[in-house]
Amino acid sequence: MVPKIGYIDEFETIQYNEFKKYKDIAEKAMEAEDYPAAADAFLRGSMAIGKLAKVTENEKLREKRLTLAKNYMQVGKELKKGIIPVKSKPKEYKRSKEVHGSTIGTEPGEEEGFEKYVEQNLIATSRMTWENIGGLNSVKETIKESVVLSIIEEKPEAIKPWKGILLFGPPGTGKTLLAAATAGSLEATFFNVKVGQILSKYFGESSKLVSALYSVGRKKSPSIVFLDEFDSIALSRSGEVAESSRRVLSTLLSELDGLQDKDSGRYVLTMAATNTPWDIDSAVLSRFPKRIHIPLPDKEACLEIIRIHTIKEGLKLDEQILDEIAVRCTENLFAGRDIATLCNDAIWNMVRSENPALGSLADKPVDAIQEYRLGVRELTAGDFEKSFESVRSAVKARDVARYDKWAEEYGSG
Ligand SMILES: Nc1ncnc2c1ncn2[C@@H]1O[C@H](COP(=O)(O)OP(=O)(O)OP(=O)(O)O)[C@@H](O)[C@H]1O
Ligand SMILES: [Mg+2]
Repeated sequence: MVPKIGYIDEFETIQYNEFKKYKDIAEKAMEAEDYPAAADAFLRGSMAIGKLAKVTENEKLREKRLTLAKNYMQVGKELKKGIIPVKSKPKEYKRSKEVHGSTIGTEPGEEEGFEKYVEQNLIATSRMTWENIGGLNSVKETIKESVVLSIIEEKPEAIKPWKGILLFGPPGTGKTLLAAATAGSLEATFFNVKVGQILSKYFGESSKLVSALYSVGRKKSPSIVFLDEFDSIALSRSGEVAESSRRVLSTLLSELDGLQDKDSGRYVLTMAATNTPWDIDSAVLSRFPKRIHIPLPDKEACLEIIRIHTIKEGLKLDEQILDEIAVRCTENLFAGRDIATLCNDAIWNMVRSENPALGSLADKPVDAIQEYRLGVRELTAGDFEKSFESVRSAVKARDVARYDKWAEEYGSG
């Protein structure tokens, strides 16, 4: 056992106070519905409690702090994306990622318990708007039309709304953003479900969770059930499949079939997202007649995405430079996520060059840091140059061709 050193105690106290400060800021910002400020406070709070966990000797306490750090990190990140948790106290924010036995208040097994769980943990409101998404104009229109059409009550029999929309395409192209914007623009109840996690954490009980999900969805309609990482469920049908996964899938299929007929007017739209549409079982695929390709951004879309992540965040960037960066982004097969990373990295390069002594501030007291005025200037081509060296696309030309081919064969809209 390492002897306890005085400065660790002191560090713990300072760090804990630091965490407490951000926790308070986050709580207040949530109450004031100032979500950007809340996101920032959650992320900072996560870093503070994470650092504290590292020096915590008591194992249980360390675990607890690490979980809290993860929790705060996730809420912060989701808030940044525009997904807003429903709970008003940070310690109760449990996102869909945290889905596992220990976070359930009620013992799973009772139907009511599952519904309660769904209501408390899987509903998220969203502030994401269509304007936060660069490019994808025709996709946005298609989604809007489909959703609106399904909600209009009076329409001829022959016009049947889509029950399921499948978004497919390379990683980081905006699929999750589109689902969040759909929810944000409609004031529909938005269920944010990471399918893989539900499957892996619930084992035998996950099909009950799926039933509960749709049951709550119907009660709170119009609702959108967003099944992210959809391939993990659709995959599980072929080959060696666990009985429980098979049950989940058949429950999902019957929910997708039955929704509208059971109770007309109670509308639940299922949106699913995947990177590997070719792995999806054909029975599942047939329940998603609307399959929309979310491709890599073209030059115009790159321009918009760069603007969103720089100029719209209050920074300056010359139009000519912006144009050159957009061209390079398309050449490098960048997805929106890569562009966001690139912009973020370039912003950091600018901040570092304008504030060379930033690191040394860490030794100063907190109030001195808080009062420091950060130097900021217009972004230059040089800031981006370094970033282009570090950001790499996860997509190869042959992957793009594979998505195009699948879209041609199975896609719609
Ligand atoms: N069209 C876009 N406009 C603006 N930002 C974008 C766009 N596409 C991606 N981004 C940025 O990339 C991040 C990731 O996007 P998103 O989570 O929607 O990707 P995804 O398609 O769901 O990826 P995955 O398939 O890996 O789940 C976003 O939070 C955003 O910062
Ligand atoms: Mg996603």
